[in-house]
Amino acid sequence: MSSTASVTFKVAPGGGLSGRLRVPGDKSISHRAIMLGAIADGTTRVEGFLEGEDSLATLHGFRRMGVRIEGPQGGRVVVHGVGLRGLRAPDGALDLGNSGTSMRLMAGLLAGQDFAVTLIGDASLSRRPMRRVTEPLAAMGADIGTTAQGTAPLVIRPARALRGIDYAMPVASAQVKSSLLLAGLYAEGETCVREPAPTRDHTERMLAGFGYPVRREGARVCLSGGGRLHGGDVDVPADISSATFFLVGAAIAPGSDLTLDHVGVNPTRTGVLEILRLMGARIDVLDERTVGGEPVANLRVRASTLRGAVIPPELVPLAIDEFPAVFVAAAAAEGDTVVSGAEELRVKESDRIQVMADGLRALGVDARPTPDGMVIRGGRIGAGRIDSRGDHRIAMAFAMAGLRAAGEVVIDDCANVQTSFPGFVELAARAGLRIRAEPRMDTDG
Ligand code: S3P
Repeated sequence: MSSTASVTFKVAPGGGLSGRLRVPGDKSISHRAIMLGAIADGTTRVEGFLEGEDSLATLHGFRRMGVRIEGPQGGRVVVHGVGLRGLRAPDGALDLGNSGTSMRLMAGLLAGQDFAVTLIGDASLSRRPMRRVTEPLAAMGADIGTTAQGTAPLVIRPARALRGIDYAMPVASAQVKSSLLLAGLYAEGETCVREPAPTRDHTERMLAGFGYPVRREGARVCLSGGGRLHGGDVDVPADISSATFFLVGAAIAPGSDLTLDHVGVNPTRTGVLEILRLMGARIDVLDERTVGGEPVANLRVRASTLRGAVIPPELVPLAIDEFPAVFVAAAAAEGDTVVSGAEELRVKESDRIQVMADGLRALGVDARPTPDGMVIRGGRIGAGRIDSRGDHRIAMAFAMAGLRAAGEVVIDDCANVQTSFPGFVELAARAGLRIRAEPRMDTDG
């Protein structure tokens, strides 16, 4: 028998969000700072690192492959790079917890090493599709085993030699693109990846920042193997995906006026700003600047009357992690919101279409899931109890629904909020959300 701590969020209705705050560091950039810092020559100093379970899983993984990493302490991490060929075999499987980014990017980075390594994850990660990376990596010469279902554990054996590839991705995925580019560092010749729609480009930006030539030609991004990375400074902006819960909360709660500081506003990540503005949200992008190759701004959001909207499918990859919160905004808006072209939501940390639809219905909202999205008739949010299915973004999205709910919103299975947003409850409470977290011991086995 084993027991695990579980957390239930209880949110009393009403209130608003006001003041000024900074949400934790960007998850995608934090992962990449560790990975690229580890295989760079020299030292990489990181500020604003996300001390969440996902990016820590990456950090611990590289430590176990012989990389000396100081911190994290107050968001500061120092990575002593070992160079492209300096990683060592770990003494057992690397456990990447809930983190799809760790697993998919590390599969590419580790495919070209001269040692074997096995990547494992928790129950959710062990259900997620990995063939999207293992198949193109195999075409480069990699030797990676999966289960018969194409899921983790990933058993990576040393490949004789990797060859560059010219790959057109069937899905718009930054994880797949990044995995192949990282393998491409170790491959002979050129590796090119073509994306069907723009996806986050943090890997390309950071490679360039570390002095590694990356060529972009329209929808195609290419690099050649055999170069070197030079460690440097990385200032991680606040994560727009974490900021999104506050953007939505402040937009839907009367009287709100909230400023979010130092948020990453890379144009491959700002789809949510366009979506919320389309719905009538008042968001100002203030003091825009570039920090370490990434655009950053302060975001001011004020309460407004949102209306339903048909979300343009081309915005979907630019807001892919923001849909749980966007669905809550839609529930609070007047009229119908239609999301389509978002089938990728079904293979995230949970099936975010089904789990969000179930939760919205538990709150009395008319939410109709479709194979690739949802139709939501907004206006009134009731009280109710929701199962987040261990998905951090579902938990935080429903917490914000409490601002407009008719009664208490109770959300079960929220421990995984730690994967991306340590301190969420305290920060949200400080801004005005009437939230408390109750630990609960679950026993199983
Ligand atoms: C990420 C890419 C996205 C996103 C994930 C982080 C990344 O996944 O959902 O949270 O850091 O590259 P996909 O590439 O699967 O869309």
